[in-house]
Amino acid sequence: MQAVALAHASRLINHGPTVLVGSAHGGRRNLMAAAWSMPVEFMPPRVVVVIDKSTFTRGLVTASGHFSLSVPGRALADVVYTLGSESGADVDKFERLGLEVEAGPALGLPLLRGCAAHLECRLIEEPHAQAAYDCFFGEVVSAQADERIFTGGRWLPPTAANADLHTLHHLGAGLFGVASEAVQARQLP
Ligand SMILES: Cc1cc2nc3c(=O)[nH]c(=O)nc-3n(C[C@H](O)[C@H](O)[C@H](O)COP(=O)(O)O)c2cc1C
Repeated sequence: MQAVALAHASRLINHGPTVLVGSAHGGRRNLMAAAWSMPVEFMPPRVVVVIDKSTFTRGLVTASGHFSLSVPGRALADVVYTLGSESGADVDKFERLGLEVEAGPALGLPLLRGCAAHLECRLIEEPHAQAAYDCFFGEVVSAQADERIFTGGRWLPPTAANADLHTLHHLGAGLFGVASEAVQARQLP
């Protein structure tokens, strides 16, 4: 993984990939899947993710004031679906699934190995948005990406060589579309 300039951090989730929300507090750590996240500001880079009241993640994020967003690729589809189908309240998902994680460089959050990109975020307290809409805003404080798929501040065209990192887009019920083709648009004259 290579560090990504914070000015380019929004690009890592600009295309609406399913992400993993990482959290840790008081000796507990967790990962859950989230289809609903997006950037909301370029600089300073800010994001929002929906974290339902029923999730174990929510308590960890609220208590710590931190969360991470990781961008998994197609090789991790089964892991993503499983992380979104069981709760860290009931099971240590890291142990059960044998997940390899690294500590994030800024906040030490759990970042799953094999993802295309990672963001670490400081929670921006918005009590009304959290309570009413389950929306958690964060300011990105570290960004990293696998240089096989994102380098120089840009996504590279998806190819067979980086197929394991092609991002996942949830269609529902565990069915994902995969971003495997890019189209370079030109402004019409
Ligand atoms: C593909 C997928 C996308 C999901 N997207 C979201 C989401 O955007 N927000 C959310 O709160 N839950 C979402 N979920 C559900 C959570 O991941 C699920 O409730 C999970 O078990 C919570 O884990 P936790 O209790 O360990 O935090 C999604 C699940 C899947 C499988």
